Amino acid sequence: MTDQKKTILQLFFFFLLLLLESTLEQQTSSSSPVEKSALLVLRSSLGLRGRDWPVKGDPCLNWNGVRCDQNGSVTHINISRFRRTRVGNQNPQFSVDSLVSLTRLASFNASRFSLPGPIPVLLGSSLLTLRVLDLSSCSITGTIPANLSGLSRLTFLDLSNNSIQGNIPLSLTSLQNLSFLDLSSNSVDGLIPASIGALSKLQRLNLSHNALSSSIPPSLGDMSALVELDLSFNDLSGSVPSELKELRNLQTLVVAGNRLSGSLPTDLFSFMSKLQIVDFRGCGFTAVLPSTLWSLPDLKILDLSGNQFSNELPNTTVSFGSTVSLLNMSENMFYGNLALILRRFRVVDLTRNYFQGKVPDFVPINASLSNNCLQGPTSQRGLSDCSSFYSSKGLSFDNFGQQPAQEKKPESPWLSHRIKVIIAAVGGSILVMLVLILLPITVNFCVRRRNRSSTSTRPRGRHNGVGPLPPDETLPSERGGVSVNYASLGTSFTYQQLLNATKEFGDANLIKKGRSGDLFKGVLETGVQVVVKRINLELMKSNEAYLTELDFFSRFAHPRVVPFVGKCLKNTTQKLLVYKYMMNRDLPSSLFYKSSSLVDDGLKSLDWITRLKIALGAAEGLSYLHHDCSPSIVHRDVQASSILLDDKFEVRLGSFSKACHQENNGRPKKIARLLSRLSQSSQESVPDSPATATCAYDVYCFGKILLELITGKIGISSCEEPQFKKILTEIIPHISSQDKEPITNILDQSLLVDEDLLEEVWAMAIVARSCLNPKPTRRPLMRHVVQALENPLRVVREDSSESERFRTIGSSRGSSSSGRVFGSWRQSISDPVAAGTSSLLSQAEGLARSGGMTGSSTRGSSRGASSRRSMKDV
Ligand SMILES: *[C@@H]1O[C@H](CO)[C@@H](O)[C@H](O)[C@H]1NC(C)=O
Ligand SMILES: *[C@@H]1O[C@H](CO)[C@@H](O)[C@H](O)[C@H]1NC(C)=O
Ligand SMILES: *[C@@H]1O[C@H](CO)[C@@H](O)[C@H](O)[C@H]1NC(C)=O
Ligand SMILES: *[C@@H]1O[C@H](CO)[C@@H](O)[C@H](O)[C@H]1NC(C)=O
Ligand SMILES: *[C@@H]1O[C@H](CO)[C@@H](O)[C@H](O)[C@H]1NC(C)=O
Ligand SMILES: *[C@@H]1O[C@H](CO)[C@@H](O)[C@H](O)[C@H]1NC(C)=O
Ligand SMILES: *[C@@H]1O[C@H](CO)[C@@H](O)[C@H](O)[C@H]1NC(C)=O
Ligand SMILES: *[C@@H]1O[C@H](CO)[C@@H](O)[C@H](O)[C@H]1NC(C)=O
Ligand SMILES: *[C@@H]1O[C@H](CO)[C@@H](O)[C@H](O)[C@H]1NC(C)=O
Ligand SMILES: *[C@@H]1O[C@H](CO)[C@@H](O)[C@H](O)[C@H]1NC(C)=O
Repeated sequence: MTDQKKTILQLFFFFLLLLLESTLEQQTSSSSPVEKSALLVLRSSLGLRGRDWPVKGDPCLNWNGVRCDQNGSVTHINISRFRRTRVGNQNPQFSVDSLVSLTRLASFNASRFSLPGPIPVLLGSSLLTLRVLDLSSCSITGTIPANLSGLSRLTFLDLSNNSIQGNIPLSLTSLQNLSFLDLSSNSVDGLIPASIGALSKLQRLNLSHNALSSSIPPSLGDMSALVELDLSFNDLSGSVPSELKELRNLQTLVVAGNRLSGSLPTDLFSFMSKLQIVDFRGCGFTAVLPSTLWSLPDLKILDLSGNQFSNELPNTTVSFGSTVSLLNMSENMFYGNLALILRRFRVVDLTRNYFQGKVPDFVPINASLSNNCLQGPTSQRGLSDCSSFYSSKGLSFDNFGQQPAQEKKPESPWLSHRIKVIIAAVGGSILVMLVLILLPITVNFCVRRRNRSSTSTRPRGRHNGVGPLPPDETLPSERGGVSVNYASLGTSFTYQQLLNATKEFGDANLIKKGRSGDLFKGVLETGVQVVVKRINLELMKSNEAYLTELDFFSRFAHPRVVPFVGKCLKNTTQKLLVYKYMMNRDLPSSLFYKSSSLVDDGLKSLDWITRLKIALGAAEGLSYLHHDCSPSIVHRDVQASSILLDDKFEVRLGSFSKACHQENNGRPKKIARLLSRLSQSSQESVPDSPATATCAYDVYCFGKILLELITGKIGISSCEEPQFKKILTEIIPHISSQDKEPITNILDQSLLVDEDLLEEVWAMAIVARSCLNPKPTRRPLMRHVVQALENPLRVVREDSSESERFRTIGSSRGSSSSGRVFGSWRQSISDPVAAGTSSLLSQAEGLARSGGMTGSSTRGSSRGASSRRSMKDV
């Protein structure tokens, strides 16, 4: 009884409250008369119904689709899917002039409301507060007004499914805050403007189903007009301008159904590490698909169907990154064997390509494979189709495995390699020329740091990852200790927050005292475990190091690089950098660990599989820095303690306080000098030790880490050079290219390895030895090291086709110069595995010839001769 009374009472008060609230609301937010009359004008110019926007009502309270702020100013208008009055339907027009009076309007959504006619120029010049503009499916005609660039706050622009024509105006790129741009399903033509690459916050870009092309728009029709064309801003050679690679936040890239053609820039995806959806369906792209696409960590959908991409698939697995739900490669000209990369995809459509060979069991069971040249699946292409395709590529076709392949001389693959080398050379020289032109912009940041006085020609406030930061913005002393440029990098913590997180930098939280600062473990308020680096500027010789790190993290992020969480730069003498905490700390602290087992003495060491995984992970990280960053980044502090390990022993590189761009991009000295003369600023700057600012130096240090993993001798990678030389002379004689047994002499005694694993150890040792070549130019490139470690057995086992090829080169050039031939092979990006292993061989050879390291002259001479034999062993 009393319960019932209670509920009734409660209900009564509830309604009373509601009533009170609504009257209060009425008081605070009824719309201003000016805005209401503007809306009424809009209502009649668009022919909206009185039912949606009643004259008697208050727009802020009971008009459909209208929202206001507390002061009664209209902020949102949503007339999406509205119906018009009968009169309004008779003469619908895109007339929204009265919107001008709404000075707080942030969002205008007219999706699926017919607005026939061109976008009014007025829109761009007056609705300056607009952040969201959705005009999809509005029957809009005409061109995109250049004036739209006036909407500088815009974050969302959807013009899809209209009848818009003409070019994408270059001025659109002044919409710096745009994160969503959809121009799909229109008749937009012309080129994709390179300057779209400047929209650095863009997350979704949909340009699909238009008439975009890689040449002059056909709509220009007669040729006389062409003379007048100003093409200076356009990139006629590329279908998708290479500048788009700067869209580092992009998650969706859809250009399907355009008249694009030509090849994609090879570095297009280098920085787009957040890409999830890539749709290039039916664009007529040709040539080689950029290989970085395969390893994008967040990829979900990859649709390449209906193009003319033509290359082999990489035979690698991706050791990080999620499973991709869809791969559609149908209707292209991909060829070669089905490769390991397919393992990453759940649904695979490979129809209408030229794949050959057997179907390995990692290919999904329901993959669509018809119309290829495969052995086994039904409805494949005919023999003549397949063999003529392969011979046009200069390759031999396996004849469905029916007859033994004809004894073809390996001339054609060699020839095609030669062509590739030439192409690479030509490409390289074009690159050099480009660099010459761009040099004033792209001097490396180490150098620039030392020349604080030098002036920068770059505009402020926007950096695209290649140029140095404008020096004045990085100078904390001039800015009261706050370097404005890094404001958006990670979270900005207060000093107090980090003090709390690290228990006031207590000794219990101290992880270690490092050269660039002390590391403390901490827990943020959110519960996230972090590592805080405290840099005391008064104790440091220079304050370069932390700026270098900030600089690095503001430009680059990669699954192999330790995640940067934030910083606190307010304090003038103490700078704090915050990173994600790595469960397994770093290599030195993980290699050996106390086990809880009481059976043995309680000390355990990482097993071989994990060590190989760590080696590969570290190599991948360095390869990213060397080859995927442009210009190349040299870590300069590669040692075991820089190799951080997460809970799954995945490598995340840390210690970036010495990182810098490779001096002179590793080009030969002469060009370097010429270049430095061109850039007046770097003339007098001689780096403290130029040898360490090269990728080859990182490779050398990486070699030490491999030795550390093999021998289990902690400290090899961090000891002084003279001491290391001594260790090396003891180790090197046990690394033989011919025989794996000697390896057991130096192998970590705590490792249990069987015959098979010993071959991997042996391979890693050979890789280590070539990395440690005294001659920097003879060390392998990091990406080749990655390939060697991915397939360690290939380094030491025989592979008949490969050795055939090597022998041909050896005999055609003479073995004495094979180092040079391999050297140029290393430039060839198209056959990295072969090039990689061959260069490793040449390292081994070079080492044997230089003799010094091995110390044994009796074996030294026989090695030179046997190096030819060792080619067969690859
Ligand atoms: C409302 O008006 C007051 C005074 O004009 C201003 O301070 C406040 O920022 C306004 N609020 C909003 C949400 O615009
Ligand atoms: C506009 O309204 C439609 C509903 O008709 C909605 O689907 C769409 O997401 C809205 N656009 C924006 C940007 O909110
Ligand atoms: C806009 O209005 C339409 C139709 O009234 C409605 O379906 C939609 O949810 C609204 N969209 C937003 C974002 O409010
Ligand atoms: C847009 O164009 C109109 C008329 O052509 C002009 O008056 C206005 O200044 C332009 N606004 C911007 C932002 O370019
Ligand atoms: C495109 O717009 C038309 C009206 O102009 C509409 O009928 C159609 O449903 C829209 N298509 C999509 C996919 O939104
Ligand atoms: C762009 O966004 C940032 C951060 O959200 C904001 O501070 C800035 O004012 C915006 N720029 C414009 C032109 O609205
Ligand atoms: C891109 O636009 C097309 C056509 O409007 C649409 O079908 C497709 O769903 C869009 N893709 C994404 C990922 O938004
Ligand atoms: C792949 O693309 C083709 C053509 O674009 C299409 O017909 C086919 O259905 C797609 N396959 C899958 C599995 O989506
Ligand atoms: C790819 O690698 C696997 C394992 O390393 C090997 O078995 C296979 O033969 C390779 N396939 C090709 C096409 O090279
Ligand atoms: C293929 O099999 C996978 C699971 O193995 C499933 O997720 C997917 O939907 C299947 N695809 C098709 C096209 O049946």
